[in-house]
Amino acid sequence: MTTHQRITLRFFTHDDAEIAGERELRFRVLREPLGYGRDAVAFPFDDESLHLLAHEAGRVVGCVLYHPETALQGRLYQMAVSPALQRSGLGRRLVTTLEDRLRTDGVRRVHLHARAHAAGFYGRLGYQIEGEPFDEVGMPHHAMAKTLQAPIG
Ligand SMILES: CC(C)(COP(=O)(O)OP(=O)(O)OC[C@H]1O[C@@H](n2cnc3c(N)ncnc32)[C@H](O)[C@@H]1OP(=O)(O)O)[C@@H](O)C(=O)NCCC(=O)NCCS
Repeated sequence: MTTHQRITLRFFTHDDAEIAGERELRFRVLREPLGYGRDAVAFPFDDESLHLLAHEAGRVVGCVLYHPETALQGRLYQMAVSPALQRSGLGRRLVTTLEDRLRTDGVRRVHLHARAHAAGFYGRLGYQIEGEPFDEVGMPHHAMAKTLQAPIG
C-alpha cells in the first residue's frame, strides 16, 4: 500500500472537531515556523469557507481552504501539507480535488497569495502570477490566479 492509499480527502464546512485538527496543522506548518502563536492561525472568513482536509490514521495531514467571494470566484488560502509528506503529490491532490468541486459548483476563477518559495508549486498546477510581489506575514508573496474551465458533459 502506498502512502497515499492511506490518506483520505474530505470536504467540511464548519465542524469544530475537524477544524481543531486543521488549525493545529496550519499552526505547525504555516505560523509556528514564522514565530507566530496559535492566535494568529484563524482568518476572519474561516467560518464561511470550504475546508478540504486530508486525513491519515485520524490525523489531519493536509489542508486547503476556499473562501467564495462571489458565485464565480474566490480565494484559495491556508494550503499546508505535513512536513513528512511534502513533495509526495499530496498538495497537488488537494488542489485538483478542490478545483474539481469548484468547477462543478460553477466557480470560474480562483486566486491566491503565494509565498514566493511556493509560487513554483502553484505554477505547476496552472496558476499564473499577476502584478508585482508584495509582503505578507513578513515574507514576499505573489498574487496568482487560474481560470477554471466548465466541466465537460
Ligand atoms: C507548498 C506545499 C503546499 C506543496 O505541497 P506538496 O505536497 O509538497 O507538493 P506536491 O508534491 O503535490 O508537488 C506538486 C508539484 O509541484 C512541485 N513543487 C512542490 N513544492 C514546490 C515548491 N516549493 N517550489 C517549486 N515546485 C514545487 C513538485 O515538484 C511537483 O512537481 P511535478 O509537477 O513535477 O510533479 C507544501 O510543500 C507545503 O505545505 N509547504 C509549506 C507550507 C507552504 O508554503 N504553503 C503554501 C503557502 S502559500
